[in-house]
Amino acid sequence: MEKIILTGDRPTGRLHIGHYVGSLRRRVELQNSGEYDKIFIMIADAQALTDNADNPEKVRQNILEVAMDYISAGLDPEKSVLFIQSQVSELTELTFFYQNLVTVQRLQRNPTVKQEMQLRGYSDDNADNKAGIPVGFFCYPISQASDITAFKATVVPVGEDQEPMLEQTREIVRKFNSTYGETLVEPDIMLPDNAACMRLPGTDGKAKMSKSLGNCIYLSDPADVVWEKVKGMYTDPQHLQVSDPGHIEGNTVFTYLDAFCKPEHFELFRDAFIGKKVSFTFNSLDEVKDQYRAGGLGDMMIKKFLNSVLNDTLEPIRQRRHALEQNIPYVYEVLRKGSEVARAAAAETLADVKKAMKINYFDPGVLDELIKEQSEKYSK
Ligand code: TRP
Repeated sequence: MEKIILTGDRPTGRLHIGHYVGSLRRRVELQNSGEYDKIFIMIADAQALTDNADNPEKVRQNILEVAMDYISAGLDPEKSVLFIQSQVSELTELTFFYQNLVTVQRLQRNPTVKQEMQLRGYSDDNADNKAGIPVGFFCYPISQASDITAFKATVVPVGEDQEPMLEQTREIVRKFNSTYGETLVEPDIMLPDNAACMRLPGTDGKAKMSKSLGNCIYLSDPADVVWEKVKGMYTDPQHLQVSDPGHIEGNTVFTYLDAFCKPEHFELFRDAFIGKKVSFTFNSLDEVKDQYRAGGLGDMMIKKFLNSVLNDTLEPIRQRRHALEQNIPYVYEVLRKGSEVARAAAAETLADVKKAMKINYFDPGVLDELIKEQSEKYSK
């Protein structure tokens, strides 16, 4: 069986370093591993509209932002198909058929949907002070199953928050195959491998980076903006004096270091730990942590180090992005071509699905059979 990846993001804002460690970095590695036959990366504008129906302009603007973030982070249009969800209308057709295989009760139990309903203030009890749940939003797990199965994806690299979506998809695949015959491929989820990357907290220490909380570092942030954000980062509130012992757990600076620090950084950025009063030489993150716990290592030093570590990853991304910003027609051409390729792939699956459901009346040969069958019925 072919090894096929499908994954994507909603275009509701520029991508931040949480997206990067949570999925983007992995996608680039998978792409460059050469182990996959096909890789589809989708900009999920139709899904974004399920809770932004009144703000299509936001979605439209962010398609380009996300595409530029993708390419500058290392996704290569020669190796991966980058496309826009709404341009593959086969996906909505699949969704319509899959809707018959899922109950309202099952959707209501989906933990991600529940959580997002809370987040958006959607209510399921008709309370008049709250917005109701848009049907499209409620059903988006089914649409996501279409995204995944349309490309016969075997592997879906996503963050842990998407686990319920994958479970839902697998259920739909099993239900479809048992009802209509083996047609769809059951996908596996691929989670980030480093614990710190499962969910990168915001710069304020809150559980999640989110645009609305204003606690994100964006892939496209200039170096001076990154430094301002790093300087303001949440650390250990009990670490008041440099000499005080510090805590690593829940300390955002260390969580980011866990996610971004590489062994060569200790040699490269030695200067960060050279101070006016005290200096340190560290050869590993464990040594830095030990010193922080023992006391004597100030927040400013580790923040300087983190800033260098972050920029080591972000600077090449920033430079590629600047080049893309000067070449917008190229970016749209990548998306246009990618959407065509994606459409052809999804059309094959849709044809399989219609065949399995016996709603392919006018396919070659099928009509003749149908006429024969019905004629015999009426000639008796
Ligand atoms: N739900 C994903 C997000 O919130 C985006 C998405 C849509 C997706 N369809 C998908 C991810 C299919 C993986 C597979 O970002």
